[in-house]
Amino acid sequence: MSSIPYLRAAGTSLVLDARGTGVPVIVHWGADLGDLSGEMLAVLADASVPAIPPSSIDLPLRLTLLPTVSDGWSGRPGISGFRFSEGGGGGLRGGGGAAAADLDLRLAGVGPVSVRSGDAVSPGTQALAISLTDAAAELAVRTDLELSVEGVLRLRHTLTNTAATAPFELGSLDVILPVPGRAREILDFTGLWTHERRPQRALLGQGVWSRESRHGRPGHDDPYLSVAGTPGFGFRTGETWATHLAWSGDKRVWAENSPLGYSVLGSGELLAPGDVRVAPGASHTTPWTVAVYSAAGLDGLSARLHPWIRSWSTLSGAASGPRPVVLNTWEAVYFDHDLPTLTRLADAAAAVGVERFVLDDGWFTGRTDDRRALGDWFVDPVAWPDGLHPLVDHVRAAGMDFGLWIEPEMISLDSDVARAHPDWVLGPAGSRGSAGPRSSLPSSALTWRFQRVLDLSNPDAAAWVFDRLAALLAEYPIAYLKWDHNRDLLAGSAHRQTAALYRLLDRVRAAHPGVEIESCASGGARIDLGILERVDRVWTSDTNDPLERQQIQRYTSVLVPPEYLGGHLGAATAHTTGRTSELSFRLATALFGSAGIEWDLTRAIESERAQIADWITRYKQLRGLLHTGTIVRADPSDPALELHGVVSPDRAAAVFAYVALAAPRSALPERLRFPGLAPELTYRVEPLTIGAPPRVIQDAPPAWLAGGGSFGAAGAGAGAAAGAGAGAGAGAGAGGGGGGAVTLTGGVLAQVGLPAPLLAPEQAAVYTVTAVE
Ligand code: GLA
Repeated sequence: MSSIPYLRAAGTSLVLDARGTGVPVIVHWGADLGDLSGEMLAVLADASVPAIPPSSIDLPLRLTLLPTVSDGWSGRPGISGFRFSEGGGGGLRGGGGAAAADLDLRLAGVGPVSVRSGDAVSPGTQALAISLTDAAAELAVRTDLELSVEGVLRLRHTLTNTAATAPFELGSLDVILPVPGRAREILDFTGLWTHERRPQRALLGQGVWSRESRHGRPGHDDPYLSVAGTPGFGFRTGETWATHLAWSGDKRVWAENSPLGYSVLGSGELLAPGDVRVAPGASHTTPWTVAVYSAAGLDGLSARLHPWIRSWSTLSGAASGPRPVVLNTWEAVYFDHDLPTLTRLADAAAAVGVERFVLDDGWFTGRTDDRRALGDWFVDPVAWPDGLHPLVDHVRAAGMDFGLWIEPEMISLDSDVARAHPDWVLGPAGSRGSAGPRSSLPSSALTWRFQRVLDLSNPDAAAWVFDRLAALLAEYPIAYLKWDHNRDLLAGSAHRQTAALYRLLDRVRAAHPGVEIESCASGGARIDLGILERVDRVWTSDTNDPLERQQIQRYTSVLVPPEYLGGHLGAATAHTTGRTSELSFRLATALFGSAGIEWDLTRAIESERAQIADWITRYKQLRGLLHTGTIVRADPSDPALELHGVVSPDRAAAVFAYVALAAPRSALPERLRFPGLAPELTYRVEPLTIGAPPRVIQDAPPAWLAGGGSFGAAGAGAGAAAGAGAGAGAGAGAGGGGGGAVTLTGGVLAQVGLPAPLLAPEQAAVYTVTAVE
């Protein structure tokens, strides 16, 4: 291996300077630099050595893979920790002081390693291991670095305590990557329950922009993805560098723009004191930091991340096939479980083409509301005197498979299991919150949704959950588990609990490889690439309100491919917002993910059921494209409007949705410019009516939508009749099912585009785009 490793894949590259004995320097992470000889790489590495400014260390400061104060790096360090020496002092070399700041890591080796196949590794991944040691401090660090064929980079560190007797207390061990100074704008995310993935942007001044999660799960306000880019970057434009920590517990991610002249993105697990005490001879490995570069905005990030995630071999057997249409019972019946009602719901589901019926919360012993019974994972004998068998048999006879909700990491204080094993409850005994005035129980732990957390790091507690799951999976033909997690930890060690969760999930997956798992955390409070390696689907948000969903799905899918993102058709009036939306908007919104229904279909009227059945038929036709294609999102200048779509890998077919979130800025909205098509191919663009056409507010549609033939020659009046006359000048139909179509090249469709229909607010029009001979 050259001492200047140069890794390249899919238009991206990384150059390390591993010459000499110090910690290797990252010379470049970003665009591919083309073919470079060894001599040229040496010139690049030498030429990258910066000046020595006044009032500075007496050597050029270079950012290493693990920067520390001892290199002269006064930004956030890559490692912190402490060894307590028996003589009483701290420090690494017998003196006092903050230990890891004194580290003097030396390069012990750098070389290619073979990566294990399978799991979250795509074939053809290039992998390097860099070994560092500090003999006097009795520590070693191995940095693993992988570049996938899709251009996704990931890095992690393993710290080994080589001392004979003294443990090492780890404070932090982070991945820090340089970004160029021009990446001055930072985008990350925040949010709330039912409003996840709200983007926030800032121009970076000098200093640290830091985000922390202390929820014991990423949280509804998860920073999710940290994107540094050239100012104004969008979905299709600008250079961007992004990092994500593949971890489901506490974390700290940041961007730092130091007056020393370096800009970096950093990420690592947020450890509490005492979380990681590395025993003599033992090691600690950090989560992976996933890092992606794009020269073409956020879509360019997705274009690397999605194929990479799709190359993993982590899906359970069934999930690697077409994603079934789900009906989830939650918003249909909540805790009111009874066989006749649920049987009628199953019949209604089967009649419209649903393929999987999921029984949500409420089926286990005494679970009549959300105040009790978590942990008592036995079918409730009162609601279900014959067990779940009659329902499961009915569902399967109707041609659907069966899924079941469970919340394995939680425990209700009002449960048989908590009464029998109070020591399995994470955190202090007692409860504060639900059990009385807060001040009356000052030393007890808070409840949240009236529940506590099961201490999974207790082997007996973990075994209880595993065994109950195994018994349920043995008794019933369960195809799918909706695995929920409805509170922050707020007690105990998030590190230990997250590690124990991963062990439990891995064990369940190994024992039941055919069972799909959906991860839910009050909606989208735990969507990260650590959990995604272990599940098949995530519940994107608890809201089924399409207006909220448009934004949540748009931004969640920058990182996670749409087929993982559960998106359900809800009732007309959303339970979480009280907002009422038309069926066509709800259908068009739920089309672009892993589709399902969360609505009491027995209350839907006949015409609604017919539209839902039509939507399911379309979804089944389109899901092959929707779940393998490239996500594209235009950057309309009007924030009320969106155009997003999925283009097949060979670019022969695409489906787009044009969405009006609110009233447009102008009566003639910006043209629809379809991104991601092959410029040289000729395509036929036509509206696709799914269920019902969207509502438009126009006297006549644009000519091409007026049914005037392939080249859109029809005059203005031709299309007015397509609107079904829902009021003066307003109608449903012209933007959707007006029968118009046009045939143009991909280049014209991207550059010139087509006049857009004037959609009413909260409407979406769907278009298919198909290459023609
Ligand atoms: C959480 C989930 C919901 C539903 C309920 C059941 O809130 O996010 O989808 O499963 O729990 O209690």
